[in-house]
Amino acid sequence: MASHDDAAHEEVTRAKRAAAGRAAALVGPGMAVGLGHGSTAVAAVPVLGQRARRGELVGTVFVAAAHFMAEALRREGLPVGSLDDTPRLDLAIDGADEIDPQGNCIKGGGGALLYEKIVAQAATRLVIVADAGKLSPRLGTRHALPVEITPFALRPELAFLAAIGGRPALRLRPDGDPMRTERGNVIADCAFGPLADPAGLAASLDARAGIAGHGLFVGLAGLLVVAGPDGIREIVPPGRG
Ligand code: A5P
Repeated sequence: MASHDDAAHEEVTRAKRAAAGRAAALVGPGMAVGLGHGSTAVAAVPVLGQRARRGELVGTVFVAAAHFMAEALRREGLPVGSLDDTPRLDLAIDGADEIDPQGNCIKGGGGALLYEKIVAQAATRLVIVADAGKLSPRLGTRHALPVEITPFALRPELAFLAAIGGRPALRLRPDGDPMRTERGNVIADCAFGPLADPAGLAASLDARAGIAGHGLFVGLAGLLVVAGPDGIREIVPPGRG
């Protein structure tokens, strides 16, 4: 018999697919499109594959923020390029771990934050796809902030993060070794709690040489596509219309 948890998980999965499908409809022929990481963004790929097979995406090229995504695109027969070939993207589609009412996000739960941010900044428009459970009154309420650290700088940056109230925890693999990002960096998940000033914190982290990236995406999202039991909502963050 299906448990309540199974039903809730199924509902979230359905919402993720719905949001991703709506975002996939924004992709047009001849576009350069970035794709992030995570279960919601990857749910857009089969829809894009179907659209390509129907001849709706002639000349569209994709840039993936993670190997996992590049492989999913290739499995659907979709062309995968790089930022060397297409430094400017028309659109990027990506998931998020937490989204505040201003459309700022915490990302990096899957460990792809640095490349995701590079792809997002290369795009004219970043579309965030998510289930409604990701919406939050304040970033940091529901999700720790992932911070990507160059291994050489691990001890001093962990000390810095602790000193500013981040309570950093090194992300580990099941075998107990530190998880490595696509760049060979490590991730500290920081439990700052609800953030009063995400932009200020982002600036402090950006100023540290040993911090290669962090999951605060402030002012980057141009559109949020959020799905829940009541349907799909398209939200333009304040000031982004
Ligand atoms: C990957 O590192 C993350 O930034 C993802 O975009 C985020 O964790 C969302 O993941 P889901 O779509 O799987 O919830």
